[in-house]
Amino acid sequence: MTTDHEWGQPEAGPGERSLDGVATAVAHPNIALIKYWGKRDERLIIPCVDSLSMTLDIFPTTTTVRLTPAARVDGVHLDGRLAQGEPRQRVIAFLELIRELAGRAEPASVDTHNTVPTGAGLASSASGFAALALAGAAAYGLDLDRTALSRLARRGSASAARSVFGGFALCHAGQGEGVAADLGSYAEPVSVPHFDPVLVIALVNAGPKAVSSRAAMRRTVETSPLYRAWAISSKADLTDMRTALRRRDLDAVGEIAERNALGMHATMLAARPAVRYLSPATLAVLDGVLQLRADGVSAYATMDAGPNVKILCHRADAARVAEAVCGAAPGCSAVTAGRGPGARLLVGDGR
Ligand code: DP6
Repeated sequence: MTTDHEWGQPEAGPGERSLDGVATAVAHPNIALIKYWGKRDERLIIPCVDSLSMTLDIFPTTTTVRLTPAARVDGVHLDGRLAQGEPRQRVIAFLELIRELAGRAEPASVDTHNTVPTGAGLASSASGFAALALAGAAAYGLDLDRTALSRLARRGSASAARSVFGGFALCHAGQGEGVAADLGSYAEPVSVPHFDPVLVIALVNAGPKAVSSRAAMRRTVETSPLYRAWAISSKADLTDMRTALRRRDLDAVGEIAERNALGMHATMLAARPAVRYLSPATLAVLDGVLQLRADGVSAYATMDAGPNVKILCHRADAARVAEAVCGAAPGCSAVTAGRGPGARLLVGDGR
C-alpha cells in the first residue's frame, strides 16, 4: 500500500539547480483517467478541458541538458540518434522558451532516452517534456517551483504538465486568454493515500501512430459536432472522478475513466475526416474487458491517441486481466504499471 508521502509529493521545488550548466532529469509517463483533448491556444498550449491522470512507475525518460557555449546551434539526440524534423524542432522551440525565461543565450545539447515506444500513444511526450523541462531549467539555472515547472512542461506538451508530479495529478485548463490562461494552466497533485490500483497496458501495436495527437485534436475541435458535448460532459466526469478517488472506489473510478475515454474517441470518429485510432485488436481487448467484468473482475479500459488499451484494475487481478485481454487479441502483449513518482533530477549529469 502506498501513501502520497512515499512518492515524495509535492517534490523538490526551489533549489533544483545545476551549478555547472549540466543536468539530468528522469520523468515517467502518465495516463489520463479524465482526458485532455483539444487546445484553445495552440501557441501557449492551453487545453480546452481539465484533465486528471495517474503517473506510471514504468517507461521512464531520462534527459540530459548540457550548455554548449562554444556551439553555434543546439544539438538534439533521441535514443542515441541525431533527432530530425518535428521532434527536433519541438525540442529547440522548448529550449528557446527556457532561454527566454532564464535571460540566457547559450545553445545546449539535449540527450534523451525513452524506454517507451515513441509516438505510439503511450505518453512519451509527457515523460519527455517533463524531463526536458526539469533538466533544462536546472541547466540554465532557472529556479522554478513545481507549479512553474508544470506550467513550463505544458508548453512542450500539455500532458507533460501532469508528469511533473507522481501519483494522481489534475491539470487545470485555466481561464481567460494569453498571460492569464498561461498562468492558470498547470497541474497539481491530487492526494489519494492508500489507493493503489494498476494499469495493465495491452500493447496491440507499438509502432508510431498515423496521425499525431496534436493534428488529431486540432481537427476534432475544428470539425467534430460531438466535441462540445464531450467537453461539457467531461466537467461532470471530473467532478465524479474526484469523488470516486476520495472514496478510493476503483469501480467508480474505472467506470468514469472508461466513459470519458470512449466519449473522446467518439468525438474523433465524428471529425471530418474521421480520426480512428482504435483497431480491430483494440476492440478485441475491449471485448475482453467486458468479459472480465461479466466474470466479476473489476477491469475498466482507457485509450489514448493510439490503438493500445490501458486497463485499470486491482493489483491482485493484474495477471488475470493481462492474460484475458491478451488471449482476446492475437499479438497483444501486456505490461503492468502502478503509480509512479514525479520528475526528479539526478545528481550531476547522471552518468
Ligand atoms: C489522448 O499532450 O500529447 O493522451 O499537448 O499537443 O503535445 P500536445 O498533446 P498531448 O496529448 C495527449 C492526449 C491524450 C489524453 C491525455 O493524455 O490527457
